[in-house]
Amino acid sequence: ALVSAKEMLEKAHAGHYAVGQFNINNLEWTKMILLASQETNSPVILGVSEGAGKYMTGYKTVTAMVSAMIDDLGITVPVALHLDHGSYDGAKAALAAGFSSIMFDGSHYPFEENLAKSKEIIELCHAQGVSVECEVGAIGGEEDGVVGNGEVADPQECKTIADLGVDMLAAGIGNIHGKYPENWTGLNFDVLAEIQDVTSGKPLVLHGGSGIPTDQIAKAISLGVSKINVNTECQLVFAAATRKFIEEGKDLQGKGYDPRKLLAPGCDAIKAMVIEKIKEFGSDNKA
Ligand code: G3H
Ligand code: ZN
Repeated sequence: ALVSAKEMLEKAHAGHYAVGQFNINNLEWTKMILLASQETNSPVILGVSEGAGKYMTGYKTVTAMVSAMIDDLGITVPVALHLDHGSYDGAKAALAAGFSSIMFDGSHYPFEENLAKSKEIIELCHAQGVSVECEVGAIGGEEDGVVGNGEVADPQECKTIADLGVDMLAAGIGNIHGKYPENWTGLNFDVLAEIQDVTSGKPLVLHGGSGIPTDQIAKAISLGVSKINVNTECQLVFAAATRKFIEEGKDLQGKGYDPRKLLAPGCDAIKAMVIEKIKEFGSDNKA
């Protein structure tokens, strides 16, 4: 069964590791991430952007597929099904469809409006035992149509949102969705430390987890990051493995064009990437 992300993140925070949020797009992504988590005995958060939710035909389909797959695969590690960068309406829709964790991203609203809407979503979700993530400041770059200006979070605003009882807090600290540019100056650890300080130990979320150097990941975890979101890196390794298979002409050998064969190298690549991230974040054997 699906679980809230609250408990796994509190354990991660106390244990100085982070739980990965890996975004899903379809059955193959979901299956590989679940298998990688089970194999490493790690809790996991499956992220679903609003765009990916629509692509998979709707939140109800996603909930049904993920729940059934957990049963059919015999997955015993904790799994949270989490709406990623949800809008106000999207948060309510995913909650109604049975998601066990919700991100309400009101970072593009004026702060007072972000605060009011965050408060409402937190109350609605908590009434059903569903965990909530909110965002302050903005993540740079673009993900599934969600565009952010990269504005660094104001620690006092973080405290105000944390005091609403949010379960995890995403703050812009120079992190960017998608590939990092050559001239990226790195994460802003001074602001991260200040946010952790004023929010008195709230589990923090690092978006844009793809392509951040290992030493910066480790430092972020040491400063209170308990959830790290990874999307682009799984997409890149899937695409590269699939391209290699086709460029080597393997889709034309035997029944290589069968989707179960054509997609297999990409699936293996996703699974290997997720295992690598789980070990890097330190959530292996923490289920
Ligand atoms: O919300 C999801 C993420 O922040 C993923 O970012 O695609 O850069 O790994 P990424
Ligand atoms: Zn994100």
